Parts: sequence; structure tokens; C-alpha cells
Amino acid sequence: MSRSEDEDRKTATARARYDRIAAIYDLIEAPMERGSFARWRRRLWAEVKGPRVLEVGVGTGKNFAYYPKDVSITAVDFSPRMFEKARRRAEREGVRVDLRVMDVQHLDFPDDSFDSTVASFVFCSVPDPIEGLRELGRVTKPAGSIYLLEHVRPSGFLGNVADILNPLVVRMQGANINRYTVENVIKAGLTIERVEDLWHGIVKLIVARSER
Ligand SMILES: C[S@@+](CC[C@H](N)C(=O)[O-])C[C@H]1O[C@@H](n2cnc3c(N)ncnc32)[C@H](O)[C@@H]1O
Repeated sequence: MSRSEDEDRKTATARARYDRIAAIYDLIEAPMERGSFARWRRRLWAEVKGPRVLEVGVGTGKNFAYYPKDVSITAVDFSPRMFEKARRRAEREGVRVDLRVMDVQHLDFPDDSFDSTVASFVFCSVPDPIEGLRELGRVTKPAGSIYLLEHVRPSGFLGNVADILNPLVVRMQGANINRYTVENVIKAGLTIERVEDLWHGIVKLIVARSER
């Protein structure tokens, strides 16, 4: 199997996992959403500046309520079923967003298209996170910012537990619980401006930019 066939296969598997859980995704996440997620989303979006913003891995559209006013937002997801949930939510809530089915590993936008790019809980599941982060760097203007709200591999003993549980969790839910996302941002050639620890070293707000 060639490298690109292998990547396509991994992407198809990851997409199928999200298609499978799309119908119950909001239900599964509801307890966390009512807890800290809503607070973290509000904090993330309070910083995001337009005029042009891209959200990748929009999921069912849980960030819609926090979108800033007076910016033009494009949002993408590679799972048609998650996309459909987002489309219906946008319609129901009257949210103005340009929604598209697209893979963050191959974004169909020219270089420097956006002032800010945003992802929340996405790079835990992108099959090749470094490629996806490189793409964010490419489409974000050099003066712009890349905002990532992500859970990462815990440090110490819990990291070993995450490594053991990960194969099961990723099969059930689609998300890896042992990703080194801060390190991946650096490997993708992005410059880290700030990393804020939001929860026990596991949930982080990463702000980065691309220097080209
Ligand atoms: C854990 S969900 C988070 C959804 C949403 N961002 C949120 O905060 O609720 C991850 C989302 O990322 C999407 N995703 C994963 N890999 C992707 C890729 N390569 N390209 C586009 N979307 C992707 C999944 O389909 C899913 O909707």
C-alpha cells in the first residue's frame, strides 16, 4: 500500500467513526458541555478577530452560539453526517455561516485567506494532525492567529494510562486521548504565541501564528 493510499484509508476510517456517532454526539457530550466546555468556548471565541474566520472540524455546530458578531465565518468538517447536523443547527438558530464538507488536511482555500482560524477538540482526531496544522498555517494570514482548544496527552502516570486506553477510546469515539498537540504545532512549522492550561495540563488553549 502506498503512503497516500494508507493516508486515505486512515482518513476514511476516522470519517466513518464521526459519521457513526453524529446522531448521538450532542447527547454524549451534554454533561461536559454544561460543565466546563461552554466556559472554554466563550473564552476562546472572545479573542477571535475577523473580518474572515475559518472554523475547522465544526462538528454539530456547538461553537455557533459563541461566534463573534460582524465577522464572516466559513466552517468545514469532513464528516457528512456531522456537517448535516451543523447545517440544521445553523438553519434552526439563524446563524450566518458558510458551511462546507472539507478535510482540514487538504483545505480548498488559497494561501492567506483568513484572519483567524479556529479548531476546538479537533486535532485529537485528524488522522495526520501535522498536515492539518500546516494547512491552517497556509490559509491563515501571517499577521493572523490560529486558535486551538484541545485536549492533549496528560503528563506522568496518567499519560501511560491514556496510551493504554487510547486504542479503545479512538475506536468508540474517534478521538485520541494521547496526542502531543503542542509539539505537533511546532512540528507543523507554526510559531506558538501562548499556551494556556485550562484543565490539569490536559485541556489547553493554544494560540499560534504562521511565519511565512
Ligand atoms: C470531537 S469533534 C469536535 C466538534 C466541534 N469542534 C466541537 O467543539 O464540538 C471533532 C470534529 O472534527 C472533525 N474532523 C476530524 N478530522 C477532520 C478532518 N481531517 N477534516 C475536517 N474535520 C475533521 C470530525 O468530523 C468532528 O466533527
